[in-house]
Amino acid sequence: MAPLIFFFMGVFYLLPSCSGKALCEDVGHMKTFRKIKEEIAGYQDVAKAIIDLAVCGKAQNRSYERLALLVDTVGPRLSGSKNLEKAIQIMYQNLINDGLENVHLEPVKVPRWERGQESAMMLEPRNHSMAILGLGSSIGTPPEGITAEVLVVSSFDELHRRASEARGKIVVYNQPYKGYGETAQYRVQGAVEAAKVGAVASLIRSVASFSIYSPHTGIQFYQDGVPQIPTACITVEDAEMMARMASRGTKIVIQLKMEAKNYPDTDSFNTVAEITGSKYPEQVVLVSGHLDSWDVGQGALDDGSGAFVSWEALSLIKDLGLRPKRTLRLVMWTAEEQGGVGSLQYYQLHKVNISNFSLVMESDLGNFMPTGLAFTGSDKARAIIKEVMNLLQPINITQVFEDGDGTDINYWIKAGVPGASLLDDLKQYFSFHHSHGDTMTALDPMQMNYSAAVWAVVSYVIADLDEMLPRQ
Ligand SMILES: *[C@@H]1O[C@H](CO)[C@@H](O)[C@H](O)[C@H]1NC(C)=O
Ligand SMILES: *[C@@H]1O[C@H](CO)[C@@H](O)[C@H](O)[C@H]1NC(C)=O
Ligand SMILES: *[C@@H]1O[C@H](CO)[C@@H](O)[C@H](O)[C@H]1NC(C)=O
Ligand SMILES: *[C@@H]1O[C@H](CO)[C@@H](O)[C@H](O)[C@H]1NC(C)=O
Ligand SMILES: *[C@@H]1O[C@H](CO)[C@@H](O)[C@H](O)[C@H]1NC(C)=O
Ligand SMILES: *[C@@H]1O[C@H](CO)[C@@H](O)[C@H](O)[C@H]1NC(C)=O
Ligand SMILES: [Zn+2]
Repeated sequence: MAPLIFFFMGVFYLLPSCSGKALCEDVGHMKTFRKIKEEIAGYQDVAKAIIDLAVCGKAQNRSYERLALLVDTVGPRLSGSKNLEKAIQIMYQNLINDGLENVHLEPVKVPRWERGQESAMMLEPRNHSMAILGLGSSIGTPPEGITAEVLVVSSFDELHRRASEARGKIVVYNQPYKGYGETAQYRVQGAVEAAKVGAVASLIRSVASFSIYSPHTGIQFYQDGVPQIPTACITVEDAEMMARMASRGTKIVIQLKMEAKNYPDTDSFNTVAEITGSKYPEQVVLVSGHLDSWDVGQGALDDGSGAFVSWEALSLIKDLGLRPKRTLRLVMWTAEEQGGVGSLQYYQLHKVNISNFSLVMESDLGNFMPTGLAFTGSDKARAIIKEVMNLLQPINITQVFEDGDGTDINYWIKAGVPGASLLDDLKQYFSFHHSHGDTMTALDPMQMNYSAAVWAVVSYVIADLDEMLPRQ
């Protein structure tokens, strides 16, 4: 056989004669990829139609306005709260009214925690009332509060080095912000680590990329066998001030009062709607965001916008009269903030059909101007995703990044299903995240338009290709 020349991902490859089984398979894959590339290029007109409708068509600011109506009406939607259940019932009706198919609610048991009243008063070296937010699942203090001296540390290492100083104190963590994933460990485990060395409470510098004296809440977890102590986040400003005071040798005393309380698990639902596939209805592209939020602000960014941009993707596809070969399934998760509770129960129930999930998608990193798609999957699947993202040339959002994981889709990704997340400016996102500032004011209808365009093009094309995304 003569040498073969292939054009693959913008590069010419000169292949030796096909001898040996492995090499012949490689050549086969490249032929296949060339075919897939042509197939995807055939979606240019459809992609253009989706983009036009999302960004300059009759869908005028739709996802922004739909979201504003829900969050202005209901407010924030904490797991186990009446607000969340109200939002789920409204969404169920919204999805039916939108003409989507197989609209239903899937029951889930979720945690219920209430923060109650809370305060932190610095008593020494001066009186100063601090802005705090108790952390999800924290216990409360006795009614008279906990009054104790403060030990300020900047890392777990420093806490361990100074373990002998921690007994009976309130540990204040002033860890620098080094990106969300790394820094959030202090919020999640700070109380446990402080309790292990005998602290009576812990206050954690908010995990935020920017601060105007805003506390940012979030989940924390206790550990079996370690005493449970109350824990809250404080502002970056107060954490830094206390670190300065401590470095001058100034004694700091705080009185912390929290009414926080955990209740038994309660009933909630994942909210589901579909556009049923025309040819392979059993096969699924899952598009998702979470409907629950923290109990501050409006839960507009996190993750009202991700849930509504996911809904908008199905609405745009339906408006254009498109029906992909595979089923497009919208899931609005419940109790994501408590650690992916709704999505875990969904996974356990539906994993029998894992072989028929082509792609799982989650938008939970904000819906500012998208920079591209984060993707986790095999090299072959990534090459296909890159071709699909090229269809977004008209709005110049074509980049494919690493790490498409997300709390609600990780169960599937770990089990081998390709996964994608919508990516934008994370510095902007983590300025508002889990704070009172998470409101519609932080969002921009034009940027939500662009998010929806990316989400709709990717989900539609992947659901309509002849083959499912390859896992290897
Ligand atoms: C869409 O939102 C923009 C920005 O808020 C606003 O200027 C415009 O009037 C809105 N368009 C419609 C049709 O509501
Ligand atoms: C500081 O606050 C405490 C408790 O609220 C109060 O009893 C005390 O008088 C205050 N001290 C000053 C100097 O204002
Ligand atoms: C699995 O998929 C089949 C169709 O292939 C469907 O009938 C069934 O309800 C699915 N099961 C679950 C638990 O999703
Ligand atoms: C997956 O879908 C195919 C056809 O689309 C069907 O034949 C098969 O039974 C499904 N597998 C499962 C596990 O439901
Ligand atoms: C398109 O996006 C890329 C990547 O964000 C950027 O570098 C480039 O300047 C953009 N091009 C135009 C014409 O806006
Ligand atoms: C959002 O898209 C709509 C069309 O769907 C467009 O009319 C509107 O101007 C866009 N909004 C903004 C703020 O650009
Ligand atoms: Zn979220």
